[in-house]
Amino acid sequence: MRSVVHIHDLSFAPFISETTIQTRIQELASQLDADYIGKDPLFLAVLNGAFMFAADLFKHLKCQPELSFVKVSSYVGTKSSGRVDELIGLQTSLKNRHVIVIEDILDTGVTMDKIFTLLESEQPASLSICSMLLKPNSYKGKHQPKYIGFEIEDQFVVGYGLDYKEHGRELPAVYQLIK
Ligand code: XMP
Ligand code: MG
Repeated sequence: MRSVVHIHDLSFAPFISETTIQTRIQELASQLDADYIGKDPLFLAVLNGAFMFAADLFKHLKCQPELSFVKVSSYVGTKSSGRVDELIGLQTSLKNRHVIVIEDILDTGVTMDKIFTLLESEQPASLSICSMLLKPNSYKGKHQPKYIGFEIEDQFVVGYGLDYKEHGRELPAVYQLIK
């Protein structure tokens, strides 16, 4: 694992190693396989951050998973509507499907609440959350995530898909901000 990395104006120290991440991913994959085998599960990975986690997780899944990538976008709607959230990239019908949302990190939970609301309207048979990281002290989301890689303190992290101003996503391990 590389030592300190510098991204833009900040420095980050090694936090969760590549080996630790990969070992945990195998455990998560076993748990998901046990829960979803025979259910034709559909995984929705949220771009951009979840791309690496989704790719590594998928190498181990044996439950014949389907994968789609989605993105949440917010825009100002017409006239009175204010901010509107929209899920881009959904091409498959979710009706009566067992859906698992793959995220990189759950912080306050605001993003996941939005995603959940948008997906629930599609009437899936079940909807669950799989996130590589969770900040339990700040998470106020309405839905408890069932599959979590690691719980971390409230600190800013990068690497393994996570960015600081769009850089650092390529790092194969997770790094924490040096204060
Ligand atoms: P909420 O608060 O909606 O936040 O759960 C989720 C989104 O915020 C970003 N986020 C981070 N990105 N390091 C990052 O690189 C972090 O420590 C971090 N915490 C939150 C991320 O985009 C996530 O989807
Ligand atoms: Mg980000």
